[in-house]
Amino acid sequence: MIKIAPSILGADFWNIGRHIAVVEGAGAQYLHLDVMDGDFVPNISFGPAFIKKLRPHSNMFFDAHLMVREPARFVDDFVAAGVDLITVHHEACLHLHRTVQQIKAAGVKVGIALNPATPIYVLEDILEELDMVTLMSVNPGFCGQSFIPSTLNKCRKLYSVIKSSGLKTDIQVDGGICLDNAAMVVQAGANVLVAAAAIFNAQDPAQAVRDLQQIGDKTYEELT
Ligand code: DX5
Ligand code: ZN
Repeated sequence: MIKIAPSILGADFWNIGRHIAVVEGAGAQYLHLDVMDGDFVPNISFGPAFIKKLRPHSNMFFDAHLMVREPARFVDDFVAAGVDLITVHHEACLHLHRTVQQIKAAGVKVGIALNPATPIYVLEDILEELDMVTLMSVNPGFCGQSFIPSTLNKCRKLYSVIKSSGLKTDIQVDGGICLDNAAMVVQAGANVLVAAAAIFNAQDPAQAVRDLQQIGDKTYEELT
């Protein structure tokens, strides 16, 4: 079964509690939390204090996607906020190995995200330390952008490296995912699909979650 990760960046913040309950009720297992610092990316979103307020109201797996320069400074704050996984950007960490170790030592899962122009070979010496790799299929900073098609080839390559190394690393694809491209993304090897606009801009967000899940699972079964 693949995992659908609604990104609350696309939700209506006035109705955030209701929106989270709706996607959770529709079966989404991950909640994707896009944290932006206005420096690494040209946008500012929310931080650990906000996430801490959400935590008691959901049983979903909280994935904090830190689009933050030198995120090591904030690892303890996100762990205290109750996240289950922290994803940092390769491009945002000077000492990536140290940051990965710090996250693991803090007792949560760890992932690395790669921007569209960053090749997967940069992960060669750290892949086995990771629970998840996130391939950005848009340039990070905003919801509602178009999927960059070259991500598919990158995903296939990463999938084959993970398989041939005997690893169980999750592959998450983030950006521009919708009902029209979800099957292709899963076919390329992804098992976690992030979506903001495709879910929260839909007439029926719960149905959008169920549709993405169904398309993803059908394709995943054919693949495995
Ligand atoms: C982009 C964020 C994404 C974004 C996805 O910087 O990391 O998670 O919210 O939004 P959609 O699915 O609308 O592209
Ligand atoms: Zn994200």
